[in-house]
Amino acid sequence: MLNQEFAVVKRVRTAVFPVAGLGTRFLPATKALPKEMLTVVDRPLIQYAVDEAREAGIDHFVFVTGRNKGVIEDHFDRQFELETTLEVRGKIAALSELRKDLPSAGRTSFTRQQEPLGLGHAVWCAREIVGNEPFALLLPDMLFRGKRGVLKQMMETYEETGGNVIAVEPVPAADVSSYGVVARGEGPDSGFRVTGMVEKPKREEAPSNLIISGRYILQPDIFTLLADQPRGAGGEIQLTDAMQTLMQQQPFVGVQYEGQSFDCGSKIGFLTANVAYALGRDDIASDFLAALAKLGLDSALSEGIRDAAE
Ligand code: UTP
Repeated sequence: MLNQEFAVVKRVRTAVFPVAGLGTRFLPATKALPKEMLTVVDRPLIQYAVDEAREAGIDHFVFVTGRNKGVIEDHFDRQFELETTLEVRGKIAALSELRKDLPSAGRTSFTRQQEPLGLGHAVWCAREIVGNEPFALLLPDMLFRGKRGVLKQMMETYEETGGNVIAVEPVPAADVSSYGVVARGEGPDSGFRVTGMVEKPKREEAPSNLIISGRYILQPDIFTLLADQPRGAGGEIQLTDAMQTLMQQQPFVGVQYEGQSFDCGSKIGFLTANVAYALGRDDIASDFLAALAKLGLDSALSEGIRDAAE
C-alpha cells in the first residue's frame, strides 16, 4: 500500500550519528569524555552503532559532534604507533579487531553542532553533508541485541514501503512520558502505518505504549522543516515535532523490531547492557559469573541473566 506513494524507493547509503549532547546524566564521567565513548564491555557505544549501520548496508558515516568530541574522530582513524606496537608484539588478533572496526578511507564525515540545542538541531546540522537523499539516523546511546540489527530490519521494510521508517518498542504505560510515542495504524509489526506521534506525553494522553527507540530512516525533506522548527519540549529543537509535520506530507511506517534494547543514556540501562553483553561473551562469561557469585549474586539468578542475554 505505502510504496504506491513512494513509487521509487531510493537506496539509503548514509547514516547520521548525533554525538553532540552534553550527557548530563553521566557526569562527572562525561565532563571530558563523550557519552558515546563509554564502553559496554570493551567497545564504545558509538562502535556498536556504526557496526549496526554497516550491517544494514550503510557506507557513509556522518557524525554530528560538539565540544570534547575529537576523541570520536580519533577512534575512527588509524593509530600507527599502536598498530606497529601490536604487530611487533605479535598481538595479531587485537590488531585485526582494530582494523575491522574502521570504516574505509573517505567514508566518514564530521560536522559540528556548536551548541547542543536538541536532537532536531543536531540532525539539521548534517544537511549539507547528507544532501537530497534519504538517510538513516542512529542515536548511539540506544543499544540493541538480537539476531538481526534493528536498522537492517528497518531497511528490509523500507525497501518495500519507502517513505520514512521509525523503530518502536513497547514500554509499560507508566514510562511513556519519558519518550516520543506513536499512534499505531494498520499493518503488521514489521511495518505498520504511523498515524500520529507526540514527544513526552502525559500518561493519560499517550496514543499507545509504543515509543520511538532511536533508529530512523528519514527523507531529506525533514531538513527544510527543521530549519524553521521552534523549540519544543525542554526548550530543545525536537526531531519529533518536525516529524509530526512531515507526517502530513509523507507516509511514516513503524517497525516493532525483534530484539532487546538498552537505553545506555541512563545509568541503569548502561549497567544492564554491560551485564548482558558480558554474559553473552564466550571469552569472559564464566569468569564474570564467578565474580558475580563472589558478590553474593545467587547463581541461579545470574544463570538466568545469562540465558536472557543469549
Ligand atoms: P540525549 O538527550 O539522550 O543526550 O540525546 P544528552 O542530551 O547528551 O544526554 P543527557 O540527557 O544530558 O544525559 C540522544 C542523542 O542525541 C545527541 C546525544 O549526543 C545523544 O547521542 N544530541 C542530543 C546531540 O547530538 N545534540 C543535542 O543537542 C542533543
